Amino acid sequence: MRNLINILDFSISELDELIAVASDIMDNPEKYADKCRGKIMGALFFEPSTRTRLSFTSAMMSLGGQVLGFDQAASSSVAKGETVADTVRMVSAYSDIIVMRHPKEGAPIVASRVASVPLINAGDGGHYHPTQTLTDLLTIHKKKGRFDNLTIGICGDLKYGRTVHSLISAMSRYENVKFVLISPKELQIPDYVKEEYLINSEYIEVTDLEKAIPELDVLYMTRIQAERFESAQEYERLKDSYILNHAKLDFAKSDLSIMHPLPRVNEIDVDVDEDSRAHYFDQAKYGRYIRMALILMLLKTHGVDDKRGFGMEMEGKTCTNPHCISNSERGIKSLFTDNGKCIYCDQ
Ligand code: CP
Repeated sequence: MRNLINILDFSISELDELIAVASDIMDNPEKYADKCRGKIMGALFFEPSTRTRLSFTSAMMSLGGQVLGFDQAASSSVAKGETVADTVRMVSAYSDIIVMRHPKEGAPIVASRVASVPLINAGDGGHYHPTQTLTDLLTIHKKKGRFDNLTIGICGDLKYGRTVHSLISAMSRYENVKFVLISPKELQIPDYVKEEYLINSEYIEVTDLEKAIPELDVLYMTRIQAERFESAQEYERLKDSYILNHAKLDFAKSDLSIMHPLPRVNEIDVDVDEDSRAHYFDQAKYGRYIRMALILMLLKTHGVDDKRGFGMEMEGKTCTNPHCISNSERGIKSLFTDNGKCIYCDQ
């Protein structure tokens, strides 16, 4: 089964193909209106969502297909204690493709191992959000016209920001991409992202947004996420660390692309919205088209094997990440790669 768990599940040429199909859909939507007639998408959202859930729903409907599912765990039998694995087994029987968002890191791997249809990770805790990255890549393609030779500033919650981790892993494969990682010390990028994806990339970690702005081609703002913090006090202390406003853009490049996966809270002032460099609402719109292209690709490649390794048990060892699915899902074992990383959450 072909799944999308991590953006690196797709080669650069497959990403190029998705972007080309999404662009064609935007130009010729009528060509695609019946491509998924008779197909059903299962949308399992164990965490809140506006853009991801509704753009996937819109995508499947725009392809002529139908959608079933739930938008909160409380309205499913998870509330009675059913596991992720059993839930996905059931929905596999009722649908042709599954989209799943879950607060636990690695939950999509558990799901993909029991699903009998393609499975798409729509965000797992603070880990990955590969379909947001597809949206981000389409935006960079449309607004900058290239993926190479870019200086990309990423600002905000880099520790728990799943969109950030997936974007870095995708962009680190292109030539001469420099990352400027702007965050409070407490919310710096996790080691596993540095070790896996930044090893061959140029990057700097800084705390000052204004000083960083002039050299950037792309500024990717992110929300400080209340829901990921253990301590409400720590969130209150850090929540307004960065607020981008019109004045701060005085020394920015004239062709800067300002992006944000949304939702925003305070980190982009509404006075930026009218700036021609503010691309975050276009970015959200593109989500529908790239997700249409993704659904078509995964349904077409149904039957191709997922090449993900299965991992191995290590005597007496369990994952130390409290947000990892291996510490909450009944009936699964802790499994590790050869170099000792948890196969579910990468930590
Ligand atoms: N960008 C994003 O994932 O938004 P939602 O949480 O609204 O889906």
